[in-house]
Amino acid sequence: MLKIAPSILSADFKNLEQQVRLAERGGADWLHLDIMDGHFVPNLTFGPLVVEAIRSITRLPLDTHLMIEDPSRSIDDFRAAGSTRLTVHVEAAVHLHRVVEQIREKGMKAGIALNPSTPASAIKEMIPFVDLVNVMTVDPGFGGQEFIRPMLRKIREVAEMIAASRSRAYLEVDGGISERNAAELVRAGATVLVAGHSVYARRNVSAAIRSLRKAATR
Ligand code: DX5
Ligand code: ZN
Repeated sequence: MLKIAPSILSADFKNLEQQVRLAERGGADWLHLDIMDGHFVPNLTFGPLVVEAIRSITRLPLDTHLMIEDPSRSIDDFRAAGSTRLTVHVEAAVHLHRVVEQIREKGMKAGIALNPSTPASAIKEMIPFVDLVNVMTVDPGFGGQEFIRPMLRKIREVAEMIAASRSRAYLEVDGGISERNAAELVRAGATVLVAGHSVYARRNVSAAIRSLRKAATR
């Protein structure tokens, strides 16, 4: 049931194929791809071109996290690139319901992400329409930041909202996740753990993924 989604944000980009293989070997369930536009967040990463390149070398589901303004403009491009799932930020889409419907119409799974400062109540009406809720546990923009502990309460709140609406949406947590907090996150209701730094900054990436899963299910 629990999904582990390594984020390649902290990977070695000059050896991307090898880095993807290490995730596969470690038993990753999904690959988490962080798309940043330098506007919604103060950092720039990569776009559909790199997603397409990754799509061509792996069959892992591509969990694409759009930290971009006006995400509706990019849905077709990421669909064409081979994204499996698209997550948009609640704070970036005025017509969130419309964007989520557009993602689903294109045959992808739709997720919505919440910045740390956005309350759980902001997504209450959207739960029946989404496949995933991403509760950010750092301010989006960079890998390797420290987990914001008080987000545990929000995770519990979102888990209750998902259960109350009999939704089957995944509850993804993203930012500062490691073996140290994995178990309490799962206990709080997380069903997808994204991990960048705690996986890719390690010498043995595959082993790090395995030990994260072990710690989470302890
Ligand atoms: C943060 C990104 C995260 C990030 C997680 O803006 O959305 O997915 O890559 O990285 P770590 O695990 O290093 O906090
Ligand atoms: Zn992310």
